Amino acid sequence: MRISIFGSGYVGLVTAVCLAKLGNEVICYDIDREKIDKLQKGIVTFFEPGLKDLIIKNLAEKKIFFTVDPLFAVRDRDIIFIAVGTPQKKSGEADLSYVKNAANEIGKNLKNYTVIVNKSTVPVGTGLLVENIIEKRNKHSFDVVSNPEFLSEGRALYDFMNPERIVIGSRSLRPKKIMNKLYESFSCPMINTKVETAEMIKYASNAFLATKISFINEIANICERVGADIEEVSYGMGLDSRIGNKFLNAGVGYGGSCFPKDVKALNNIAAVNEYDFKLLKSVIRVNNDQRKLIVEKAERLLGDLKEKKVCVWGLSYKPDTDDIRESAAIDIIKLFHKKGAIINAYDPKVNYDQLNKEVKFKNKIVFYMNKYDALKNCHGLFIATEWNEFRKADLKRIKSNLIEPNVIDGRNIFEIKSVNKHGFNYLSIGRS
Ligand code: UDX
Repeated sequence: MRISIFGSGYVGLVTAVCLAKLGNEVICYDIDREKIDKLQKGIVTFFEPGLKDLIIKNLAEKKIFFTVDPLFAVRDRDIIFIAVGTPQKKSGEADLSYVKNAANEIGKNLKNYTVIVNKSTVPVGTGLLVENIIEKRNKHSFDVVSNPEFLSEGRALYDFMNPERIVIGSRSLRPKKIMNKLYESFSCPMINTKVETAEMIKYASNAFLATKISFINEIANICERVGADIEEVSYGMGLDSRIGNKFLNAGVGYGGSCFPKDVKALNNIAAVNEYDFKLLKSVIRVNNDQRKLIVEKAERLLGDLKEKKVCVWGLSYKPDTDDIRESAAIDIIKLFHKKGAIINAYDPKVNYDQLNKEVKFKNKIVFYMNKYDALKNCHGLFIATEWNEFRKADLKRIKSNLIEPNVIDGRNIFEIKSVNKHGFNYLSIGRS
């Protein structure tokens, strides 16, 4: 099929390369000329395993094209995906200005029947909004469909090619048939539904997963008080197929570009529709409090944090990505700074220049290229992200580089037995 994708960000690019791999001809459109120039040369400005290679391969095979020309992107297409950003406004609601701009450009340039697909996570009712914008500018027929993504950063290509379900929200048979044909090679359940239902499936899924995380974090906090072990509790719960073993890892709370934004947006959707989503409000509160608990733990081990040097391992919101959006590590560093602590930081993938540009730390922070060097002269180590290389770290070396053997393990990556053997003062999450 002939496909275009508006928005060459994370979701847009992953969708593009995978659809090209499936044999479609894909045009990627973006308003950012610099980004498009780079992509044309196979340069991707963020890290996602396998993405760069697939872009280069698709470029060489002429299956993928990049453009800033909206007419080229809209003309003679069977399907146009809208995969632009929907950042969060201060009020918590989703900012739809990029979606509206994309709809305007599509409306201006549409020349033949096309299915317009909302891939961005958008509030319920946005399908109708996009329809109205295009309709005002265009006499040609089209249909608007909702087809939410369920891609997890770090394994997005795998997720796209191995979906557990595909959700297609449409109003009539014609777009439904075209979308089902696009995905006909997948054997997973295809859920054909109303546009509004498809939009809600995405929000409800992310909000439920976030709820699971806040729930297990609260259980962990109780485990510490009653002497139970959260790892074993999670394992015991997860074997019940009604619960499932995923998203039951206690830690510093969820982050990233999706959960925090989508949970707040769903809370906002409820409020706008005069419904008080009490449970979701608590999910957000628990997640914020989980960050504060880390600082309390550090104070228990290090005493007053003023002028104390803390080493932070891991800055991305989860392993296998360089993404720092809504990362717990960044929030916690800010809390440490408020207490007067000095930070040494290390992350295997995060771009420190970019981070400094985006976050503007007000207090002292020094970035290291080697995790053991970062420990030197520090009064304690805080592990914020469970990168594999931290799990395999040499405990002897950690101990000898620190001034005091204090470790706050925000992701439960070390075995209690081995840290005890090495004589660490060790606090983790939900384990006594
Ligand atoms: C998520 C959804 O999984 C994906 O389907 C959706 O489309 C986009 O949002 P992503 O943000 O890439 O994907 O990361 P995910 O792996 O879901 O983790 C989100 C956050 O939850 C991370 O900060 C992670 O550390 C945290 N998390 C996850 C936990 O704290 N405990 C867990 O058990 C699982």
